[in-house]
Amino acid sequence: MQILQGKKIVLGITGGIAAYKTPELVRRLKDHGADVRVVMTAAAQAFITPLTLQAVSANAVSDSLLDTQAELAMGHIELAKWADFVLIAPATADSIARISCGMANDLLTTICLATSAPIAIAPAMNQQMWHAQITQENINKLISRKVEVFGPGSGAQACGDVGLGRMLDVDELVALTCDFFQPTTKVIQTDLSGQTWVITAGPTREAIDPVRYISNHSSGKMGYAIARAAQLAGAKVKIISGPVNIPTPEGCMKLSVESALQMHQQALKLAKNADVFVACAAVADYRVAEISTQKIKKSADDMQINLVKNPDIVADVAALSSKPFTVGFAAETQNVEHYALDKLKRKNLDMIAANNVALSGQGFNSDDNALTVFSSKTKTDLPLASKRILAEQLVQLISQHYI
Ligand code: PMT
Repeated sequence: MQILQGKKIVLGITGGIAAYKTPELVRRLKDHGADVRVVMTAAAQAFITPLTLQAVSANAVSDSLLDTQAELAMGHIELAKWADFVLIAPATADSIARISCGMANDLLTTICLATSAPIAIAPAMNQQMWHAQITQENINKLISRKVEVFGPGSGAQACGDVGLGRMLDVDELVALTCDFFQPTTKVIQTDLSGQTWVITAGPTREAIDPVRYISNHSSGKMGYAIARAAQLAGAKVKIISGPVNIPTPEGCMKLSVESALQMHQQALKLAKNADVFVACAAVADYRVAEISTQKIKKSADDMQINLVKNPDIVADVAALSSKPFTVGFAAETQNVEHYALDKLKRKNLDMIAANNVALSGQGFNSDDNALTVFSSKTKTDLPLASKRILAEQLVQLISQHYI
């Protein structure tokens, strides 16, 4: 089941540059089953058109409190009552100030006042504006009224500044919205303080020539979610990551690699001093035998590339004399249990988390997943959930076995 199936979300868009990301946000919320109705402020329309949001949401966009036609179709009170969740993204400093004061002089602020649904805001503004005392007071006022604050993130800003104030990425906003509807009641009960966890994540790239490579569809979402969960539970976390486009969870150290050989080298170095090693990366089993130093020119109708086997990273970690508690993954398209148990034994792992990557909406590059986790004596099903939630459940399970 999709986590947001049947959920009615009002997405409020206010006037910040991050508004350009909102069509993708609408699309992704809908992918999770949500029905999305967009409310735009006048300033938002300077950045993105209502027509675009109408097309992606497949619903009329509301933008005025005083439009008789719009009020006839779905009035502001009706919209406020319709919502299961109000997400304001981007939420500018101005909109945050006006909502915190309880103003109701445009459609979005009126809905915030008239709704009994939970509200979340995704702040987006210049770092100095975010740090301004008045903004922080407004944020604290909203938090004290149980408004969820998603972000902001840190990094380079449109104005050239660097710091806190960026709207969170669409992936993160979707994950936080899913988490809201599928909350965890502190899944990780174990305190991992003092432990070091090393986690591999993402794909590897095996170069063919200077411009081409062999890789796979791993996004890093599952591995990074495990890193986040372990870090939240108190562990010191090091991620050895192939090339991905997602942010590094706060507080985690990241080592970027490209190829399986590079990942192998880093893994063996870091695993020696780790308590727990989780191999979530989708490592290429083979690499190109001889990487061409020049771009290979097109000539014959067919061509062969010789491949050689890569070292098995997780098996080599499990063979260390100072072996950490070693957890592998098994990405299978058939006979999932059989192949997973074979890998558990053959690679001398303590646990293995198997996922069926042939099922749609889970596995590679999706926000959700389902796992069956095996140790030599146990089998635990972790049913379909967001990767964030699943990661928390997995970390809890690992910590129970490790202690
Ligand atoms: O990154 P996402 O888009 O979120 O997708 C998540 C995922 C589907 C990639 C993840 O859940 C997953 O299944 N990761 C393991 C992928 C994989 O390579 O599985 P495998 O069955 O081929 O490998 C078995 C285990 O050996 C894995 O722990 C793998 O990391 C490890 N391995 C494989 C080959 C190799 N040379 N070295 C390894 O360490």
